This record gives sequence, C-alpha cells and structure tokens, in this order.
Amino acid sequence: MKLLVIGSGGREHALAWKLKQSRRVSEVIVAPGNAGTAREHGVRNADVAATDVDGLIRLARDEGVALAVVGPEAALAVGVVDQFRAAGLRCFGPSRTAAQLESSKAYAKAFLARHNIPTARHAVFEELAPALAHVRRHGAPIVIKADGLAAGKGVVVALTLADAEQTLHDMLGAQSFGAASARVVIEECLSGEEASYIVMSDGRDVLPLATSQDHKRRDEGDLGPNTGGMGAYSPAPVVTPAIEQRILTEIVRPTIAGMAAEGAPYIGFLYVGLMIGADGTPRVIEFNARLGDPETQPILLRLESDLVDLVEDALDGRLAGRAAEWDPRPALGVIVAAAGYPGKVRSGDVISGLERAEAQGAKVFHAGTGVDAEGRVVTTGGRVLAVCALGEDLAAAREQAYAAVREIRFDGAFHRRDIGHRALPRS
Ligand code: AMP
Ligand code: GLY
Repeated sequence: MKLLVIGSGGREHALAWKLKQSRRVSEVIVAPGNAGTAREHGVRNADVAATDVDGLIRLARDEGVALAVVGPEAALAVGVVDQFRAAGLRCFGPSRTAAQLESSKAYAKAFLARHNIPTARHAVFEELAPALAHVRRHGAPIVIKADGLAAGKGVVVALTLADAEQTLHDMLGAQSFGAASARVVIEECLSGEEASYIVMSDGRDVLPLATSQDHKRRDEGDLGPNTGGMGAYSPAPVVTPAIEQRILTEIVRPTIAGMAAEGAPYIGFLYVGLMIGADGTPRVIEFNARLGDPETQPILLRLESDLVDLVEDALDGRLAGRAAEWDPRPALGVIVAAAGYPGKVRSGDVISGLERAEAQGAKVFHAGTGVDAEGRVVTTGGRVLAVCALGEDLAAAREQAYAAVREIRFDGAFHRRDIGHRALPRS
C-alpha cells in the first residue's frame, strides 16, 4: 500500500524512513518533504504544503493513499485529520478539538486542572494590568506563555520581576505573537529535570514509545535561547521504571480517559513534556499533539516493530495489551543547525559530506534541506540535519554520531558538542 506523511522536518523524514520499512508498504509520499525524503529509497515528495488540506486530500485520492500520518501541529490545528475522515480517508492524528491540548495552552491547563493531573499552578490573562499585578504578587522566577502556537518560542521563563513585566508588555501590550499572545498563561516555575514521554493512543488505550530527552537550549551547558531542540537521545535514564509507571498512572491514562469522557477522544501520538521533581514526582509542562522533533529520530532508530501495524492498531482501537519491540541499544541524535538559528537564518548553503557521514554508521535525517537547480543539497531552514546513531551504550552512540557530524560541512553550520551530557553519568 501507499502511505502519505504530512510535513517536511526531521520527524517526517524519520517517519517516512521507518514506515517504508514495512513489507506492506510500496511507497511513501511526503508532502512537502525535504531533500532527505526525496532521496530516501521508496520515498518521494509531493509539492503540497502541510496545511493545504484540500491539496492533501486531492493528492491522497489521486495517488490511492491507504493511510496518512500527520507530523506537524500546524496541520492538526487546521483540522487535517477531521477533513480526511470526512472524505473517507484514513489519517492518523488527533482531531482539531483534541489537538487543542497543544494548540491552546489555556485549554490544556484547564483540562489538567479539571482532571487533577499534576502540573504547575497557573492563571490566564487577557488584560495587561491584572497580569502585571499577578506577577508582582508572585514574584520571580515565573513562567509566561503565549496561549496559541508560537513555533516553540512563546514561552519565557522570567528569572527577574523586570523580565516578567517586560514579557507581559511585549505579549499583551505589543502583541508580539499576534493573536497567539492576546491571551497569556502565567504559571509557577517548576524545578527538576525535563523529559519527554510519548505514547500512541487509540482513544482508550495507549502504547508507550521508548523514553527520550531533548536539549532545548541553543548553547552548550543548556544555556542560551530556547529552540525546537538541539539534539535528543533515547532512552532517558531519568525516567526510571518506577517513574514511568507514575507517568502512566498519574498523567497519561487520566489524560486519555479525560479526553474520552469530554467527547474528544484522543487518537494519535501524544507527547507529554514533563518536569521530574527531585523526589521523582512527574508534572506536565506541556502537551504536544504529535511526535517530538528531534526526539522522534532516535526513538524510531530504536523501533523494531512495524510502525504501520502499530498505526493501524491505534486507528482501529486495538492498542490494549499491545507493546512495541525496541533495540536495547541507546540512540543519540545531534542537530546541525544554520547560522542564526533560532533567530533569522540564511538559506541556500551547499551541504557536503552526507554520504561520508552515513558511511560512519550514522543515519542522517534531514530537516531544513532542499535540492537546488543544480541538484545540490542546500540548507532551507534553521535546524538542517539530525545526525543519529545507535551504540552499545550512550557514550558509544554519541561518539558514532559525532564522528558523522564531523564529516558534514556547510557555511554557517553549528552544533552543540555536549548532547547527552545529563544522561551519560547515569547510563
Ligand atoms: P513549553 O513550550 O511549554 O514546553 O515550554 C518551553 C520550555 O520552557 C520548557 O521546555 C521548559 O524548559 C520551560 N518551562 C515551561 N514551563 C515551565 C514551568 N512551569 N516551569 C519551569 N520551566 C518551564
Ligand atoms: N523537541 C520538542 C518538540 O518537539 O516540541
């Protein structure tokens, strides 16, 4: 059968690569894809944007696509899954209503409160004056979030009161994120270690994926501005089996049950961003209604089960008692980014060394890449590549990934040299 993957990032390259490994799949089409998906065996791109729902439905019909898998939140938030279903097409991902767990932080926080699911205490504001009064009452550190989607950049952890006040002036006063920041969520600053926990849900039961952790800050030592993620690895040693059980019973299952009870059954990948407190208590930082990027790349490198079977089981409500098979070896991925990321980046720089990198035993997933008029692979975005490797232990995976990173060249390329530093002493 033919599959469609919607999106163009590293997560989508990894999805397409993994789905194509199923013996039941003849071809995977990626819309719009990148240079990596264009070159992947059995995978091809179609020039349709991830949010062009009519175009995607036409593509799926014309190509006889049996199943679509959605990568990015923007496509979910415009209702791609609802419209595919209405057109009689199979599409894996949450409905527009269920995807509000990610697309509206105020919705997610109210949901968590209604269901007594552990998270930071919060308040929601649309007016500047009461928001300022709130932060003055609570003091710093305090966390301020734009309500809507802001490409991962709408969160400020304000370390001083002055910082908090400035952020509120920017978001509510100057509307720095437009409509997305017309409303803000202000919440208590949690301390601990962050981890990502991703499950597949059929609306009632869940199948946990391997644990993972990403590095959100741009600079080594986890400093500098927040990004979409500069690298990731799986498993995450901070999530011990005991903590994993707590995540499932205290957070994941009540979330899936709560969504079902509210008439918005959650079917799709659910990403729970967690803060694990010093005593092992997990609390929700955020939900994403999709797989994480770059967590997906190392996770799927370890997945031994047929992903098409798992997706179909989830769509058909058959996840009860299902488990996935994992390569016991850890995987680690390093993002190679373009100069300027996470701010404004230059594009069009020619990338070399991709074959040499893979000859080192790594898998290079593309994100912001394209093919220029001369057929060369060039940069088209901020996060350009995720260079991933498996290893007998995390240190070996890391060494392998960095050996491959050293083969890759383009003007302005940069990467963090310390991906995995939190996990290494534990593993
Ligand atoms: P989010 O987009 O909600 O994941 O927030 C981005 C980043 O901000 C998270 O990965 C955390 O590092 C940080 N963050 C968000 N909320 C909190 C919180 N309540 N306490 C501490 N850090 C937070
Ligand atoms: N790496 C975090 C995310 O995908 O949002």
